[in-house]
Amino acid sequence: MNICIIGTGYVGLVTGVCLSEVGHNVICIDNDENKLAKLKKNIVPIYEPGLEDLMRKNTQSGKLSFSSDIIEGVNLSDVIFVCVNTPPKPNGQADLTYVEGVAREIATCMTSYKVIVDKSTVPVKTGEKVAETIKRYNKNNIDFDVVSSPEFLREGSAVEDTIKSDRIVIGLDNKRAEKVMREIYEPFGAPIIITDIKSAELIKHASNAFLATKISFVNALSNICEHSGANVEEVALGMGFDKRIGKSFLNAGIGYGGSCFPKDVAAFIKIADELGYDFELLKTVEKINRTQIESFIKKIEETLWVVKDKTIGILGLAFKPNTDDMRNAPSVPIIQALQQEGAKIKAYDPQAVENANLLLDNVIYCDNPYDVAQDAEALVLVTEWDEFAKLDMEKIRQLMVHPILIDGRNLYDPEKMVENGFIYKSIGR
Ligand code: UDX
Ligand code: UDX
Repeated sequence: MNICIIGTGYVGLVTGVCLSEVGHNVICIDNDENKLAKLKKNIVPIYEPGLEDLMRKNTQSGKLSFSSDIIEGVNLSDVIFVCVNTPPKPNGQADLTYVEGVAREIATCMTSYKVIVDKSTVPVKTGEKVAETIKRYNKNNIDFDVVSSPEFLREGSAVEDTIKSDRIVIGLDNKRAEKVMREIYEPFGAPIIITDIKSAELIKHASNAFLATKISFVNALSNICEHSGANVEEVALGMGFDKRIGKSFLNAGIGYGGSCFPKDVAAFIKIADELGYDFELLKTVEKINRTQIESFIKKIEETLWVVKDKTIGILGLAFKPNTDDMRNAPSVPIIQALQQEGAKIKAYDPQAVENANLLLDNVIYCDNPYDVAQDAEALVLVTEWDEFAKLDMEKIRQLMVHPILIDGRNLYDPEKMVENGFIYKSIGR
């Protein structure tokens, strides 16, 4: 199948590379010339394990190419995946300007039957609007179908999540489009769920909102554990063995961040509101996520008593491990709050320093965790990168002014940390 991907960001690039890997011919379009220049040299502009090798393999075999020319992309393809970003407006609503713009461009340049697949996260009923837009600008009355096929990939494991996905959701309204979509997705071997377009659109928001709810639930629980002396990890483990609950996404911490959960929860509240339903549950999920970070900052401040002029070391900046993504990273409000109190901040992250530097001022970036610990009055663990789990804690303790470690991700064993001579605080334990 000949496929065009419009928008070669986190989602579009991974989708394009993986579709070429299973044998399709893929052309990826983007209007960012800097990004394209890198992609054409086989350089992946983001840190995503496994992506660059797969991309090089498929560009070299001729299955994958990059261009800024949307007309070329549309005309070479049977199917067009729309993967442009849908950023939040200040009121939480998704901004669909790029989706609308791309729909118009496709409409004006298509010359034969096309399936237009929306992969961007969009509010329910966007498919209808995209179809209306295409009809309006499709002067030659070319036949087309609109399909919704949301993505569920996680940054850091995006390739694996796409190649070996739990399920593939396809929302459509006729057999012709179904045949095309099955042909595209069958090589992945994942269960395919065919629904109507609106349901597919809702599955994406419902899934992300549900996962965010799970995280806020366990974070709320962590507060009960702190007040009662129970251990949130043990409670979550005991709950997770129940198959109906499941073990994943029950890690208490400093709340969810990233490009999706905060944006999608806010958008879903807004969508519900516009449809006449007050989604109070999700409003509380958001509130718990905000308070979790505020309590963590308070915990650091209370442990240090006076923060002013103290050097605090930050371990991890990215919103989660195995990515360089700083979108809605909890490290930003934590560092800014401590700086406001007069702290000096040193930090290390294996991948995210370049992006962090665009968002933060007056941070001393170090080359490794030991340099962060050197002369620090406290260490704050924000992102649970694997390498932090393997630190030589004896060495860290000796390098610090005071061995205080405040762990926002429950990465370390509290008993061992105390044995190692640390004043150690974590979440709900
Ligand atoms: C995606 C989805 O599309 C979004 O809806 C979802 O919620 C999160 O994942 P993402 O891939 O993270 O967004 O966005 P981004 O990395 O910003 O990539 C979007 C790309 O589209 C950029 O490379 C941008 O240059 C490109 N773009 C945008 C176009 O090529 N044309 C446009 O008109 C707008
Ligand atoms: C998410 C969804 O998982 C994915 O299906 C969707 O397509 C895009 O959004 P992503 O944002 O890349 O993926 O990361 P994810 O692994 O889901 O983590 C999101 C946030 O939740 C991170 O800040 C992470 O630290 C936090 N989290 C996750 C927890 O605090 N506890 C958990 O148990 C799991």
